[in-house]
Amino acid sequence: MNKITNSPIGIFDSGIGGTSIWKEIYTLLPNEHTIYLADSINAPYGQKSKEEIIHLSKKNTEFLLNKNAKIIVVACNTATTNAIKYLREHYDVPFIGIEPAIKPASLQTQTNVIGILATKGTLNSELFEKTSSLLDNNITIIEQVGEGLVDLIERGLINTPQMDLLLKKYINPMLHKKADCIVLGCTHYPYLIDAIKRITGNSVQLIDSGEAVAKQTQNVLEQHHLLNTTKTKTASHLFYINKNKAVLENILKTINPSLIVNELSF
Ligand code: DGL
Repeated sequence: MNKITNSPIGIFDSGIGGTSIWKEIYTLLPNEHTIYLADSINAPYGQKSKEEIIHLSKKNTEFLLNKNAKIIVVACNTATTNAIKYLREHYDVPFIGIEPAIKPASLQTQTNVIGILATKGTLNSELFEKTSSLLDNNITIIEQVGEGLVDLIERGLINTPQMDLLLKKYINPMLHKKADCIVLGCTHYPYLIDAIKRITGNSVQLIDSGEAVAKQTQNVLEQHHLLNTTKTKTASHLFYINKNKAVLENILKTINPSLIVNELSF
């Protein structure tokens, strides 16, 4: 048995949102062991300074490396856009990041107007500015900070009147300006798809980067000869969270009821 290929994929987010990425990886790579870290006690990252986000991302990375992770997936747009450069420079393991899917949205829009909902930390980052500056000049991007959304999701308040009110405030101006694609630029937001569709109907496409990140993880594992080729009957999936364990348990229950969450004081 090869010790390295048999090691887990480490995944972290500021909280439970990155499980939207974990799920894509779990589906695409059923043979891989995974370890997921939700730093919920420090969520939301979106309002923090770049220095704080780097500090927390280092701490999360070291936790996963201590658990023998062979690759780290930064399942958080905010941590990717603010800290991935630092992480790649300081740790000797491949990192996969996630960025808002504005490029795919720009190729799909018919009205040439796309909305993007993301955290302040993502929208203000240099990386996001660079990516958006590369888009075709004809494309109008409506940027909207989703302030308060992560906080409600972390508390399990997804399908609630409070959530609907906030979403209407953020989404209606995009519809008014004729956006026909909305980019979900935070890994927590795929959990809001039903709530958003209640506002947009089916005329607007909601675009996230989950599948692309899973595919990229597979490609990078292949390039580094790190894919687990040992046939595992049941791959192991470890979840760690430092606040609101029950919310993560409820989400995982809908995917696979046998998944267990460990509480951390971290
Ligand atoms: N899920 C995260 C993201 O993709 C972070 C949200 C937050 O903690 O503010 O940006």
